[in-house]
Amino acid sequence: MKIVDLRSDTITLPTEEMRQAMYEAGLGDDVFGEDPTVNRLEKLAAQMMGKEAALFTPSGTMSNLIAVLTHTRPGNEILLGSEAHMFWYEVGGASTLGGVVMRTVPNDQDGTLNPGAVEQAIRPKNIHHPQTTLLCLENTHNRCGGTVLTLDYTSAIVGLAHQNGLQVHLDGARIFNAAVALDVPVSELASPVDSVCFCISKSLSAPVGSLLCGNQEFMEKARKWRKMLGGGMRQAGVIAAAGIVALQKMVNRLAEDHATAQRLASGLAQVPGVTIQPREVQTNIVIFESPATIPGAEFVQRLDAQGVRLLPRGRRRVRAVTHRMVGAADIDEALSRIKLLVKELG
Ligand SMILES: Cc1ncc(COP(=O)(O)O)c(C=O)c1O
Repeated sequence: MKIVDLRSDTITLPTEEMRQAMYEAGLGDDVFGEDPTVNRLEKLAAQMMGKEAALFTPSGTMSNLIAVLTHTRPGNEILLGSEAHMFWYEVGGASTLGGVVMRTVPNDQDGTLNPGAVEQAIRPKNIHHPQTTLLCLENTHNRCGGTVLTLDYTSAIVGLAHQNGLQVHLDGARIFNAAVALDVPVSELASPVDSVCFCISKSLSAPVGSLLCGNQEFMEKARKWRKMLGGGMRQAGVIAAAGIVALQKMVNRLAEDHATAQRLASGLAQVPGVTIQPREVQTNIVIFESPATIPGAEFVQRLDAQGVRLLPRGRRRVRAVTHRMVGAADIDEALSRIKLLVKELG
């Protein structure tokens, strides 16, 4: 039986062209700044994001943590969405290692934060309060179902944060999905924020890595934090080479993943008992609810036995992510197995 793996876009394997580029990569010691391939990747990333400099890190989690460490001091407070990846899935690193208080503002379903709620959460100057110094945004928004923050929204919320003396970091793990969905250059979406990171290891199909981007001074401090966290990677050009191919060749094809996500969402909408609004699917993440007769975790387990892999995301919530390694035929196959299971459930 063919497995249709829709758990995450992180399962994508490097392309042949990436493997070839990895084999041929010029190498040096990156901690000395001497790996020519890492240097090329960082330059390309900074250019694409419209920032002065970039830093190659092993993961999105490390990029986000370095951003917090660089923007804040222990005892500060940072604001993030209640559904933020940084809040849910990064092991509380900002608090544990950065010594900051994480304060959440409710995420609306579309991944945005209400400007009034953000303004209210910013602490006034008072001896009793931690100082609020950083706002973190996420685009696309993972737990909100791959939703996209527009340039207008980003500019407005960043403007509000800046007026109140806050810096803004954007967790743009999937910012290229947002740029493709909105059909705008990615640099536009990144332009209002002070720092942005993105992953090459997700839909862009490179095996490892993330890039943190910002101005020169910020990135110099960030580089030192990366070293302290053990993220100085020596001949990292071996993996950076795949990242260059990812940025040059894999961005435009993300539209295909958005189309397969739509195909999946429309198909799921036809399955009796499954709850989904296909209109709300904006990129490559599809969130739906299992039929009322079966909890999400059990639904996922039963489907796994039928060769369809998904992730449970709450009581009945289930997540599917489309990517380069699943095509339209795989989606149709997954849908027919889902329909069969729902029929069996009665
Ligand atoms: C929105 C978001 N930010 C950050 C990360 C962390 O990336 P990594 O798994 O490379 O640490 C992820 C991973 O799925 C993510 O979805």
